[in-house]
Amino acid sequence: MRTVLPGATLGILGGGQLGRMFALEAKRMGYRVVTLEPSPDSPCGQVADVQIEAGYSDPGALRRLAEECDVITYEFENIDAGAVEFLEGLGKDVHPGSRVLRISQDRLLEKNFLRDSGLGVTAFMAVDSEADLMEAARTVGLPAVIKTVRGGYDGKGQAVVSDEAGALAAFRKLHGDHPLIWERKVPFLKELSVVACRGIDGKATAFPVSENIHVDNILDTGIVPARISATAAERARSVAKSVGDALGIVGSYCVELFLIEGDQVLVNEIAPRPHNSGHYTLDACVCSQFEQQVRAICGLPLGSTEVLKPSVMINILGDGKGNTLFGADEAMREANLVLHLYGKTQAVAKRKMGHFTVLGDSVESALAKALAARALLRWG
Ligand SMILES: Nc1ncnc2c1ncn2[C@@H]1O[C@H](COP(=O)(O)OP(=O)(O)OP(=O)(O)O)[C@@H](O)[C@H]1O
Ligand SMILES: [Mg+2]
Repeated sequence: MRTVLPGATLGILGGGQLGRMFALEAKRMGYRVVTLEPSPDSPCGQVADVQIEAGYSDPGALRRLAEECDVITYEFENIDAGAVEFLEGLGKDVHPGSRVLRISQDRLLEKNFLRDSGLGVTAFMAVDSEADLMEAARTVGLPAVIKTVRGGYDGKGQAVVSDEAGALAAFRKLHGDHPLIWERKVPFLKELSVVACRGIDGKATAFPVSENIHVDNILDTGIVPARISATAAERARSVAKSVGDALGIVGSYCVELFLIEGDQVLVNEIAPRPHNSGHYTLDACVCSQFEQQVRAICGLPLGSTEVLKPSVMINILGDGKGNTLFGADEAMREANLVLHLYGKTQAVAKRKMGHFTVLGDSVESALAKALAARALLRWG
């Protein structure tokens, strides 16, 4: 195991906000950062030392990334796993590796992997034809969520169906080159997530559980600590650690969970990278999920995941009404609010433009202050 010390150069595939926050933490720790991203002036490119402006699978660009960097990671799971394999083939350390990426970018591989690892998931079935669809309706059951197996995010590429006619319509709309996945809809009490991190030596840490409120399938609010029982919280963190061990992952990752009756948890999905629901760690924890990522891929000891204060994180989404955010000055009158904007110029509807975190003495007070702050923000 090689330790990559500060001063070295870290590479990141992808130039979005997760890359930006990773780069900011890495820079603070004294690393250089190179990002590979096709869109110019990307959120990560704005703060990295170098942005290689090319497609994620461009062999020349990948070669240059490998030459310039001591270790490489990625910030979203819809890059071609072949690109990561190509880097590995050049003898470069990429964390998490291509195997983890392959599993987590394919919902069927992922659910099968989780089930085979003995972890609880909702009933599911691959659906590649209308005959499969009818069988799924009979055996897995309704209501269901039908999803594309690859490429979905923020609820894109999925449909909730409650009868066979709806399922057929969803199938015809969503089915393409790949099978779909039919998931039994989970009657969850809450949505939770745990960001965890696993080092090259297999040592792992898990941050406290976040309680996540989604609006239109997009994360809206994250509340930490989650308002759940100690048993449920313990189970959630333990499942998250088991997922990481089963995957043999190196780096920060997130396990999205459903809390169901009896304080049980089911795994919804895995993100093999820092996660929106872990942004609170930047302001509320000793060590953030991004710093943990840096530490893990560099072979450094992982830091403390201790939460210093209860927190509420709220996403700032575009709404298509303008590209200037008004009201930040008023919102910041709340001195325990920390604002993060991602440097994106076009605030199109539902685009993640930034977030803020409010720290409080209790979750309730942080939540009240966060909701009041949100009401002050508007695009124009
Ligand atoms: N089987 C299910 N039962 C109940 N609700 C579900 C199920 N699958 C998905 N959902 C709901 O839809 C949301 C989005 O689903 P999921 O997390 O699978 O998709 P995604 O588009 O990959 O989202 P993300 O932005 O987290 O990557 C979930 O957070 C949950 O609210
Ligand atoms: Mg999700």
